[in-house]
Amino acid sequence: MSGAAPLGTSDSKAAAQAVREMFTSIAPRYDLLNHLLSFNVDRLWWRRAARSFSSILSRGNIRVLDLCCGTGDMTFALFRQARMSQVRILGVDFSHSMLRLAQNKSRGIALCWIEADALTLPFADGMFDLITAAFGFRNLADYDAGLREIVRLLKPGGECGILDFGEPEGLVGRVYRVYFRHVLPVIGTMVSGVRGPYEYLPASVERFPPPPTMLERMRHAGFREVSWKPYTFGIAGLYRGHK
Ligand SMILES: C[S@@+](CC[C@H](N)C(=O)[O-])C[C@H]1O[C@@H](n2cnc3c(N)ncnc32)[C@H](O)[C@@H]1O
Repeated sequence: MSGAAPLGTSDSKAAAQAVREMFTSIAPRYDLLNHLLSFNVDRLWWRRAARSFSSILSRGNIRVLDLCCGTGDMTFALFRQARMSQVRILGVDFSHSMLRLAQNKSRGIALCWIEADALTLPFADGMFDLITAAFGFRNLADYDAGLREIVRLLKPGGECGILDFGEPEGLVGRVYRVYFRHVLPVIGTMVSGVRGPYEYLPASVERFPPPPTMLERMRHAGFREVSWKPYTFGIAGLYRGHK
């Protein structure tokens, strides 16, 4: 089994609890820090990921699930991309504070927010046409269980998109690693006022399987036509697969 393992945790239950507490503690400053630390490129990544599912999202009469939705920015990007069509979009997260912020941001918009763990979701098999997760999948306590749960919830032919950080190579990678490992944790800790979460971030990316391994695990979980598309030199990337 492999998954997120914040410092000091020794099993998946403790890891999940530490992850939930971490995100709850930074929730009030989460959006500000996201935009600041990514130089606003995060907005482009959410939009680009949502755009890659434009054909599903324009079909109408479909159900979409955005896992680990946090304050909802990926969910909003999907909603904007779907625009005219009859699309039901649900955002799921296990941090109540993150969801409250998502709900406040979505007043007047027909989105639904549900508090639940992405590894044990309260939905019937085959309910969704599209399932996404932006920068959340990496935090699951068990990656294979997370993939199996997505496969369970997708309709046959349904699609999955996992947007997450990667580790760029070459000169860009070297410069980026200095920023990501040494500068970002200092700014993140200072602005959030919480020690821990922004030190965990680079560690969690290092721990996350590289694209070839992740694609193999997706195949093993039951996905076909799996692919990975690097975004911004591979700093982030979108994994896709069909059920
Ligand atoms: C880095 S944030 C990403 C939020 C949002 N998707 C975005 O792109 O900004 C990760 C989110 O995943 C949530 N999360 C982590 N593990 C989870 C789990 N097992 N079940 C539900 N949510 C989880 C956290 O609470 C947090 O809000």
